[in-house]
Amino acid sequence: MTEKDFLPGAYQKMPENGKVTWKAPSNIALVKYWGKRPVQIPANPSISFTLDACASTTSVTFEKKEKNDGFSFDLLFEGKPKADFKPKIQTFLERIEMYVPFLKEYYLTIETSNSFPHSSGIASSASGMAALSLCLMDIEKQLNPSLDEDLFNAKASYLARLGSGSACRSIKGNLVQWGAHKNIPKSSDLYGVEYPFEVDAVFQSYCDTILLVHKGQKQVSSTVGHQLMHGHPYAENRFQQAFSNLDKLKPILASGDLKGFITLVESEALTLHAMMMTSMPYFMLMKPDTLEIINKIWQYREATKTPVCFTLDAGANVHLLYPSKEKEKVKGFIQDELAEHCENGQYIYDQVGSGAIKINR
Ligand code: PMV
Repeated sequence: MTEKDFLPGAYQKMPENGKVTWKAPSNIALVKYWGKRPVQIPANPSISFTLDACASTTSVTFEKKEKNDGFSFDLLFEGKPKADFKPKIQTFLERIEMYVPFLKEYYLTIETSNSFPHSSGIASSASGMAALSLCLMDIEKQLNPSLDEDLFNAKASYLARLGSGSACRSIKGNLVQWGAHKNIPKSSDLYGVEYPFEVDAVFQSYCDTILLVHKGQKQVSSTVGHQLMHGHPYAENRFQQAFSNLDKLKPILASGDLKGFITLVESEALTLHAMMMTSMPYFMLMKPDTLEIINKIWQYREATKTPVCFTLDAGANVHLLYPSKEKEKVKGFIQDELAEHCENGQYIYDQVGSGAIKINR
């Protein structure tokens, strides 16, 4: 699909009002997206596990306006008006205007909430933008009932990408790939696709326990981080490495090769942080407890031969990844050894999930 496919035709009807609700999950990248061109085009392809427990639920109530005089909306976060989120949503709506021109015909009330604790250091932009984009597509579907499911999902992902790059990987389930790659059929820079190759059962129920090392605001926004890849001395090699890691991941995922998985995923996480440490200005998002946890994971893996590994986002929190059959054993490890490195001892059990769902209420 190309950008043109996302421009709507004439609408078949125009309801007076209505309400739609979607719940979209967060995701955690295995091969990381870090670096982009305008508008939200990734410098390299990426792939992520869709999560399950960490999710945003968003409702959009829409009511026909007297006159079409620009975007009009209210924004409620966890039941309360949230003025500081409004500019981000305004920019998003302006960016997607040509794809969803009906929006200006309605007064919108956007209500959103997250399943994870407030300011837990878990970015809600991926799940939030995905849930909002699905709501907008759901309204479009009411205006144009012949919209087919593939286009619905691809366009939801396309819109979400324009809100926050990695959000485009939060529409569908299990494993989602984003970014054109010559060896991955249907891959696109414009939206995420369900990973089209064989995936061993072990990866379809993989666990991710998010160890909340630092719950405050991120020290560097991902917008700034992506920008620092422009003129970065190692950028080109890094981008090439991501392409090649996607090739390497294919047999690993197909065969359930945990050793190969661990090596590739940990290397990706450390490379992401290495890029941050070697940009100008340079920065470091890991905290001493991040390193303590990583060392303990390595020691535990060596001593017990349990296939646990870690990945990191652009922050200090650690995602502990392991097969679901190791759950009980790993629970003990987390409680006994890792919880002490988490802020207020907090962590969240999550696992691979099957994508966003519509909530009927
Ligand atoms: O979606 P953004 O612009 O917030 O970028 C997210 C980038 C990482 O989370 C660090 C990696 C990724 O691929 O999700």
